[in-house]
Amino acid sequence: MKPVYKRILLKISGEVLAGEKGHGINGDTVNSICRAVKECADLGVEIGLVVGGGNFWRGRTSEHMQRTRADHIGMLATAMNSLALADALEQLGVEVRVQTAIEMKEIAEPYIRNRAVRHFEKGRVVIFGCGTGNPFFSTDTAAALRALEIDAEVIFKATNVDGVYDSDPKKNPNAKKYDTLTYMEMLSKEITVMDSTAATLCMDNNVQILVFNLSDPHNIVRAVLGETVGTILKGDK
Ligand code: GTP
Repeated sequence: MKPVYKRILLKISGEVLAGEKGHGINGDTVNSICRAVKECADLGVEIGLVVGGGNFWRGRTSEHMQRTRADHIGMLATAMNSLALADALEQLGVEVRVQTAIEMKEIAEPYIRNRAVRHFEKGRVVIFGCGTGNPFFSTDTAAALRALEIDAEVIFKATNVDGVYDSDPKKNPNAKKYDTLTYMEMLSKEITVMDSTAATLCMDNNVQILVFNLSDPHNIVRAVLGETVGTILKGDK
């Protein structure tokens, strides 16, 4: 089996790490995700990983807190998730480095693009923590930014939905899932896949995004092997 990608940026939503608990980190869930990541690494795929923080902190819903401070707490949440994933990967025998956009040198390496690329070349998984390091930017935007910086061929947006639908499948039983969708179609149909900053960054730079469900972590391996999972978002060209 041959992977169709050489270097990917895998974005994992924080919520999925909570498993059925709905909050915090579920060890079994993290392990099964990491086993799939290891399978991809063993196939020779270079993997950059960005994780959200929603299992610990939903900054935007804390109305009484200053947004910047709420987002700082969210960044720390992504750092915790990054360390948990790193630990699980290491226990599976995967070489991994964590780099954070906010310096916390005692805990992780600072984000240095060229160093991350060297890590990939040596077969290490690199986990990028703390989002972009800036408030007002989502971890989807961080995933798009890091994907561009490291020249990833595709962003895997692994989340808790099967892909992109023409209407909300929870409300409309006849909702239709797209296999592929262009950014222009996404905009004209007013479909929200990610926040507009992340979407603009991807669209302007022609980055492909594959949106798929992580309830079956093996979907990551299927996607790497080029099987049809979820929805591919791409430019018009
Ligand atoms: P090579 O240069 O390819 O050998 O990479 P390396 O990451 O193995 O070497 P390095 O000597 O840079 O790092 C050795 C260990 O220290 C690795 O586990 C790194 O993740 C870790 N490390 C390196 N820099 C930092 C840092 O700034 N902070 C923390 N917390 N760990 C670091």
